[in-house]
Amino acid sequence: MAGFKIAILISGRGSNMAALIEAAKAEDFPAQVALVLSNREDAQGLATARAANIPTQVIKHGDFEGREAFDAAMTEVLAAADVRLICLAGFMRLLSPEFCQRWRDSLINIHPSLLPAFKGLNVHERMLETGVRIGGCTVHYVRPAMDEGPIIVQAAVPIASDDTPDTLAARILEQEHRIYPLAVRLIAEGRARTAGGMVALDSFELPEIRLINPPTQ
Ligand code: GRF
Repeated sequence: MAGFKIAILISGRGSNMAALIEAAKAEDFPAQVALVLSNREDAQGLATARAANIPTQVIKHGDFEGREAFDAAMTEVLAAADVRLICLAGFMRLLSPEFCQRWRDSLINIHPSLLPAFKGLNVHERMLETGVRIGGCTVHYVRPAMDEGPIIVQAAVPIASDDTPDTLAARILEQEHRIYPLAVRLIAEGRARTAGGMVALDSFELPEIRLINPPTQ
């Protein structure tokens, strides 16, 4: 089993967590999921993780006086699990600057937009209200400000004129499930490094870009 241990932090459904667990089953995947941590004991994803025999832990944020104390409890558990990378996957708590600093460049997040556009919540509704033709998703290193930090991987997703927030979210989620494992692979293999506020990737061939929405014919 791969020696590069990761933890996944969830608060809910955990479909990105499931995608990472699935990817890590492949023999050539360079990371193993050592821990799934949730701030809510009713997070659906916990059952999925347990069914896959992944160690889980719940640390309820309500049990702590403040954000710093809660984050410190998480740090203790994460350090004890010896993880090299923490993946936020629908983790619905803001993290303290101390936590972000402690895990700087070892903490990544997935967000359902092409950052830096559409940070924050209700992203799909806001994209539809704005009328953008192309949305997408982003995996990025975490910095203290919400949905900010060096970008590792993005995928573009065209938006249909009859999309609802739900249909758009589903189409973007499919791509989230592809790019999150890819980002973890790049990091675990040492092929993505932060440099000057950005991520330097080892050279690779650009995919052919031919996405125009609406199509030309
Ligand atoms: C995803 O859309 C992710 O981009 C956002 O929260 C959602 C979590 O979904 N940060 P899931 O729990 O991974 O299914």
